[in-house]
Amino acid sequence: MQLCVVNSAVRRLLDVRILKVIRRKQGYSACTVVRHRWMRHVPSVSLYCCKRISSQSQKDAIDMSKFPVENIRNFSIIAHIDHGKSTLADRLLELTGAIAKSGGNKQVLDKLQVERERGITVKAQTASLFYSHEGQTYLLNLIDTPGHVDFSYEVSRSISACQGVLLVVDANQGIQAQTVANFFLAFEAQLTIIPVINKIDLKNADPERVERQIEKVFDIPKEDCIKISAKLGTNVDQVLKEVVKRIPPPTFSVKDPFRALVFDSNFDHYRGVIANIALFGGQVRKGDRIVSAHLGKAYEVNELGLLRPEEHPTEKLYAGQVGYVIAGMKEVKEAQIGDTLFLHKHPVEPLPGFKPAKPMVFAGMYPVDQSDYSSLRSAVEKLTLNDSSVTVHRDSSPALGAGWRLGFLGLLHMEVFNQRLEQEYNASVIVTAPTVPYKAVLSSAKLIKEYGAEEITIVNPAQFPDKSQVSEYLEPMVCGTIITPDDYVGKIMTLCLNRRAVQKNTIYIDEHRVMLKYLFPLNEIVIDFYDNLKSLSSGYASFDYEDAGYQSAALIKLDFLLNGKPVEELTTIAHKDKAYAVGKAMCERLQDSIPRQLFEIAIQAAIGSKVIARETIKAYRKNVLAKCYGGDITRKMKLLKKQAEGKKKMRRIGNIEVPKDAFINVLKRNDR
Ligand code: GTP
Repeated sequence: MQLCVVNSAVRRLLDVRILKVIRRKQGYSACTVVRHRWMRHVPSVSLYCCKRISSQSQKDAIDMSKFPVENIRNFSIIAHIDHGKSTLADRLLELTGAIAKSGGNKQVLDKLQVERERGITVKAQTASLFYSHEGQTYLLNLIDTPGHVDFSYEVSRSISACQGVLLVVDANQGIQAQTVANFFLAFEAQLTIIPVINKIDLKNADPERVERQIEKVFDIPKEDCIKISAKLGTNVDQVLKEVVKRIPPPTFSVKDPFRALVFDSNFDHYRGVIANIALFGGQVRKGDRIVSAHLGKAYEVNELGLLRPEEHPTEKLYAGQVGYVIAGMKEVKEAQIGDTLFLHKHPVEPLPGFKPAKPMVFAGMYPVDQSDYSSLRSAVEKLTLNDSSVTVHRDSSPALGAGWRLGFLGLLHMEVFNQRLEQEYNASVIVTAPTVPYKAVLSSAKLIKEYGAEEITIVNPAQFPDKSQVSEYLEPMVCGTIITPDDYVGKIMTLCLNRRAVQKNTIYIDEHRVMLKYLFPLNEIVIDFYDNLKSLSSGYASFDYEDAGYQSAALIKLDFLLNGKPVEELTTIAHKDKAYAVGKAMCERLQDSIPRQLFEIAIQAAIGSKVIARETIKAYRKNVLAKCYGGDITRKMKLLKKQAEGKKKMRRIGNIEVPKDAFINVLKRNDR
């Protein structure tokens, strides 16, 4: 461990830059920067402690051959959102000495700024723990996963590297919609499932009721449940014992040729691609030449090791172990998630990989300023490597210039992606109103020839083909699961009916809780259904959905015009029966979101050339500078600066300024 003192003025230049130089000059490889708390009393100098992975610590590297497959357990923590996965992971890390004990709520595995700000996990994280039990040392590889439905692709990938899961259920809330969805992901992958009832310290906790639910819904005997408080650490050691006892070790052999699954990857600005791998056989060491089955390209292994949860280099990794590898992959395209790595001299059959994520919503993304196009392209490429569930297609619009059409797994996913672009890449973008992927069966021979297919998918409403050229429109459907206390069933049924949903099933999971199954048009739930469901049920109902194919639908394209100029970002596809209501509501909401300007603004919704709704924003006559009489020039400047800052977040349509977030906000409705 070495210390370096960095002047606070230099520090402001950006920590990473300093560290890059330090690393280059002195061979530091970990960019962990720890600010010493006691030094905050020293005003002008900040002390940073840079952990140097020196040749000494390389020598201290853990000998991974000490962990034969019999002593390895690979497991994920899965649960409904906020049921305490990350808190449990903290306690497990503390108990095994991977991090210092604090007893607090650190959620060390939630590393991203967006995760800390929103208090949710969006990216699965791996941590390897050493655990001594009955005279043996075990290597436990834990993967903490996100709980929100939009990130379930992370869960499905994580469990491919595991033999078991901890299914965490809140002792107060009981089984929720994502608990059911995640259970089935693990069940279908034939993993060992250990139910863990968390938050037993809460005043209203009723672990016995939750045990009964688990027995009824998942057919797991209630004696199998472990009751814990992750917050207080109660019974958490029991979880570790049961992991060793119940989860089987991997069945791979070191004698087989090296074969590893890339189940996740990250992009580091300085070191390129860091691939998270699970070894399905053999062994790999630093200096080995490995090949990516996907591209057939060979690389030399520069570094490999364990995630504890920071990178901890080792000399080798063996069958059954989970770790990371850095092999000089600089291009985003080189690290395909689901790819198989093998030794150059021992080619093997690639592993099946993953089903690609299926985007549920699409939105256009354009640079605010076209001159930022290439820097934004590189940011989007790097971020999609960290988040492989985003699909990217180049797109361009007469009004917005060159950009992309991106596919996301849901609206939260889209918001998180935007926030990460801004926070991690300092990129400012215009995002168009999200839409679901509709389909059209074409009747026009000319169009069929142009598209090269009779059935096309429409991800950009601006390209919605006219009714005269189409024999049938299709819309995507989902099978939704709602779990709610029975008091709210009536209101929820009305909400579902308003969203064109068809009820499929209803079962009581205990005396007071009901599980409802509905078939929904995806369009009806993607924007704001969850918010409405939460407020109708005072936060008690939960919701999850899965793909249910396509269904014929009467769809039409709705255009919006501001003073006669069409606003491409707002073009929406709506069901025929709802077009008028949607058009009117969006006009009203636009009226609320667009600030008054020096002239009158007409907001219109139109189907083709027929206007179906109109609102007007009256002119704003007041001169904002009128009050700055006399020579108060500083105040005038401040006001002008404030106005200019506000305008940066505006998009100009003709001479009208529209706030950037208006495009998404106007789509949200309130069913209460
Ligand atoms: P996502 O990653 O967003 O899905 O959440 P999570 O499942 O990781 O939950 P997290 O660990 O972030 O915990 C959610 C909240 O529950 C936090 O405020 C925790 O402090 C709290 N919490 C977690 N475990 C316990 C517990 O045992 N008792 C109590 N009282 N609160 C807990």
